[in-house]
Amino acid sequence: MRAENPSTILEQELSRQFKQHFDSIPELVVTSPGRVNIIGEYTDFNDGFVLPMAIDRSLMMAIKKRTDDLIRVYSTEFNAEISFTSSSLRKGEFSWGEYITGCIWVLQQMGHTPCGFDMVITGNIPVGASLSSSAALELGILRAATYTAGIDWQPMKMAILGQRVENEWVGMNCGIMDQAICACGRKDHALLIDCRDHSSTLCPLPKKSTIIILDTGTRRGLVDSAYNERRAQCFEAAGKMNIAYLRDGNEEMLEQFRPQLSPLAYLRAKHIILENDRVLQAAKAMQNDAGHELGRLMYESHCSLRDDFDVSGTALNTMVECAMEHSACLGARMTGAGFAGCAVALVEKGREKDFVEEVSSAYAARMQTEPRLYVCQAADGTGIQPFDQELVEK
Ligand code: GLA
Repeated sequence: MRAENPSTILEQELSRQFKQHFDSIPELVVTSPGRVNIIGEYTDFNDGFVLPMAIDRSLMMAIKKRTDDLIRVYSTEFNAEISFTSSSLRKGEFSWGEYITGCIWVLQQMGHTPCGFDMVITGNIPVGASLSSSAALELGILRAATYTAGIDWQPMKMAILGQRVENEWVGMNCGIMDQAICACGRKDHALLIDCRDHSSTLCPLPKKSTIIILDTGTRRGLVDSAYNERRAQCFEAAGKMNIAYLRDGNEEMLEQFRPQLSPLAYLRAKHIILENDRVLQAAKAMQNDAGHELGRLMYESHCSLRDDFDVSGTALNTMVECAMEHSACLGARMTGAGFAGCAVALVEKGREKDFVEEVSSAYAARMQTEPRLYVCQAADGTGIQPFDQELVEK
């Protein structure tokens, strides 16, 4: 039995669980990655720019098509199974299963008729750590359901459907970033995404540096309300500045309209306007293989999220400071929605081991808790392939 790499181990686990839960052998396997955002935070719903990459931590889903419309899904993470028929969808029936029923609902809204399947999900994306395990779940379900129903797979269109699931079924008012990168990610690259027209440009990662995810181990609690509050403050600022989206603002307008803005709305708008500029500069830095410039912009972004947008927290700030104090660090920042979860650092290639050891112990000494640091590679977006039958236990 082969057991050489993490995805082979996950596939073996899938095969075992499939046998146990459905007493059969899967036909297909979907791989759906998590993501880390390199720069461009909270800019997506302001019609702005983001620069995330899909990572080599993913959900893997083993699937077997059924002849009826029953959908059964077992999750190893939650050690639970849900089952429903696509003709009797109801909101709010299953917690993690909402993402699954939501995907079937959205395909129906598009006029499709998804068919039934059995599925086992496993994976290695930590949940609630700001690495987008929910977008990975949505895109993975959409990939499986489109494949089994013979629906054409167009990654960005599917990302938009994933966002609809969040907005209209789950009730989370997120932007397009997580679903877009999960669907469209590319090995060895980050993606500059224009969240207005959904166009994207591949940006190669700097050759002499590595991306390291710094998981503080803290998990988000009541983030939705803080997220929606920031969102409302952004739209309040845009309204006062007579523009539909902060994407259309600039520093000059910000100062011109300052008297009309509440102090908080001013700070929120300042973050978004400057962050959009930073994303475009960061994309240029990546095209020019300028790691130090990219790192500088990442840290500037962190300071803005900490001081002006106010979505960081003690654990994330401490982690970023520990990283920045290391001589191999080119830049670091909190990533994703913030408050808890992960930071991301750009680190000189060849010094990763040293960085991981020293930053872990510096953080543990200050926070009395062991963090988890992972060196990570940019991966491809959600994909599907036949299940490797050699992995099936005889
Ligand atoms: C969450 C949301 C994204 C984005 C980020 C913040 O991950 O799902 O749409 O707004 O927060 O950049």
